[in-house]
Amino acid sequence: MAANPKTTTAETITVERPTSRDQLDEFARLPFQVYAGRDAWWPPDVQNEIDLLSRRSLLSSHLEVTPFCARRAGRLVARVSAVINRRYIEHWNEQLGQLIQFEALEGEDIAVAAMLDQAVQLLHERGMRSVRSGFAAFLDYPYAIDNYNALPSFLLRGNPASYHRYFKDAGFVTEKGQVDYTASLTPEILARYRRMAEAAAVAGVTIQSWREYGFLAAIDAWTDVTNAAFDRHWGWNPVTRAEVRPMLTSLWETPVADLSMLATIDNQCVGAVFSVPDLSPALARLRRGVRLDPERGGGTRGALINIGVIERARGRGVALAMAARSFLAMARRKMRFAGYTLVLDDNWASRRTAISLGARVTGNFVTYRLSRRSSSALTL
Ligand SMILES: CC(C)(COP(=O)(O)OP(=O)(O)OC[C@H]1O[C@@H](n2cnc3c(N)ncnc32)[C@H](O)[C@@H]1OP(=O)(O)O)[C@@H](O)C(=O)NCCC(=O)NCCS
Repeated sequence: MAANPKTTTAETITVERPTSRDQLDEFARLPFQVYAGRDAWWPPDVQNEIDLLSRRSLLSSHLEVTPFCARRAGRLVARVSAVINRRYIEHWNEQLGQLIQFEALEGEDIAVAAMLDQAVQLLHERGMRSVRSGFAAFLDYPYAIDNYNALPSFLLRGNPASYHRYFKDAGFVTEKGQVDYTASLTPEILARYRRMAEAAAVAGVTIQSWREYGFLAAIDAWTDVTNAAFDRHWGWNPVTRAEVRPMLTSLWETPVADLSMLATIDNQCVGAVFSVPDLSPALARLRRGVRLDPERGGGTRGALINIGVIERARGRGVALAMAARSFLAMARRKMRFAGYTLVLDDNWASRRTAISLGARVTGNFVTYRLSRRSSSALTL
């Protein structure tokens, strides 16, 4: 057992549900301790987390969020939020609860076990039959199983390896694996992208950036296409135009408007891509003197975050053409690498797309699940 009995005694451990502004602030800031020793990491948006936890988020109408934290000798050592997402439950007709925002210090096995037990128990009492941790649309992302000390792709976790032990000890099993890809934007690859874009044009597919399409209309088009394309995609739940507009509107004056794409056939929007420039110079925390590997950031890595094509337009090169146009726009802005972020291991349509774009696997992740059969120790 990794828990050190000298420093981790059950007597000194308490599990609490933070509610006050100060407690929520302390909860939201735990990552600053977990990742303090890293050369580079993505700090949380503390205010955004507090808004979610105090039901002041745009998503609050369909979410019940209950934060938990564990203290040892008074010190905050772990945190997690139990979520009941009514929209997910209705969409999939599945009584699935979610554990999001999990973070914990090293060697806190006893505290983490006590906290996870209480969070799972709450979901059980609220009628959930299983629990997922490591993927909740717009709320949480999977756990890294490699690259522990490198800056992860934007949005993704760079968690310590100990998180896997914490979840396995709590009875969770791996539910899904995910892959993150990176393409190197060499002259040969860029020539291949131009051919992909031309082939789509010949086939009657029009690709436009969100700026060319009209940015505000593009946001609604993205919402509609993404809801349709991801309808049966594992883990997804629908989002509304009213929720997405305020999240994305402020991006109209950023390169997102030039890197994100829409595909239309006969004036009907059939495909959407959302891409971002390299956000590490603005958002990542770097130890003084550290220079990022250009493949990871520092101004040279853009990322395609999301791609969807509605069913009737699939298999005609629409995804390839949209991604190709997005990556060409990245190259024009001096980016040398393009991320193709987070594909399920078994999503072969998307993995084939990544491979045809010349991308290779550069990161691996998992999502955990606890169900009735997973553990006799936990009473789900
Ligand atoms: C993944 C997705 C965007 C692909 O769109 P698409 O326009 O059909 O893809 P393309 O026609 O451009 O084909 C791209 C590559 O994938 C392959 N492909 C497409 N559909 C496939 C399938 N069902 N199974 C295996 N390969 C497939 C194509 O053959 C092509 O590979 P090739 O260049 O080696 O021939 C689309 O299936 C989709 O929207 N799926 C649901 C949402 C989703 O999973 N998004 C990705 C999340 S990571």
